[in-house]
Amino acid sequence: MGAVAPSSPMLASLIADSADISAAKHVLELGPGTGPITAAISKSLSSHAHYLGLEMNESFVKQLRERFPAMQFEAVAAQLYDFDAFLGRDGSFDAIVSGLPWSAFPESLQITILDHVMPRLKPGGLFVTFAYSGFHLLPSGRHFRKLLSSRVAEIKMTPTVWGNFPPAFVYMAKMSDKNFAAHQTEPAA
Ligand SMILES: C[S@@+](CC[C@H](N)C(=O)[O-])C[C@H]1O[C@@H](n2cnc3c(N)ncnc32)[C@H](O)[C@@H]1O
Repeated sequence: MGAVAPSSPMLASLIADSADISAAKHVLELGPGTGPITAAISKSLSSHAHYLGLEMNESFVKQLRERFPAMQFEAVAAQLYDFDAFLGRDGSFDAIVSGLPWSAFPESLQITILDHVMPRLKPGGLFVTFAYSGFHLLPSGRHFRKLLSSRVAEIKMTPTVWGNFPPAFVYMAKMSDKNFAAHQTEPAA
């Protein structure tokens, strides 16, 4: 899974707060796993909002559907998620929350996933993810941050959550109108 342990409630709450979930109408979570961040999201999610969780592990998807019946979970086989099928061609998100182990991914996979997902983030939308302190200094961790920075208007880091195992911090990346336009896919002919 790329994780030493599921995210702690403290880290999960920080992620949900950083993504401004209570104000979001459309939320995407990548790699919800056993659902620690999903639980924090569900506490803040408005009853009118739509949530989509994309997870590669089918048994996690089954458990998540049972635990959070009002939220949508889909099993995905690869990094090229079929957003058109899940949401319609114009579906986009106010907040994208990722629990993917970016620093464990090869750089080519980091690029493929970000190129696929970021065009679905609305202008001014937030992309929020976490990194284990220290791992972000590995070449793959630095590469991920550089890739993310190149796709958004600004990127901030929270202080480290020392109560998480391992200690971790949160990246908050905000999409600008300009970057959003640059990443829009061409409408199908
Ligand atoms: C590091 S775990 C994090 C789980 C949970 N979000 C947490 O914070 O404890 C990563 C999860 O992402 C899933 N995953 C890995 N690659 C994925 C991909 N390309 N798309 C969707 N899910 C993926 C794994 O199956 C795993 O459940």
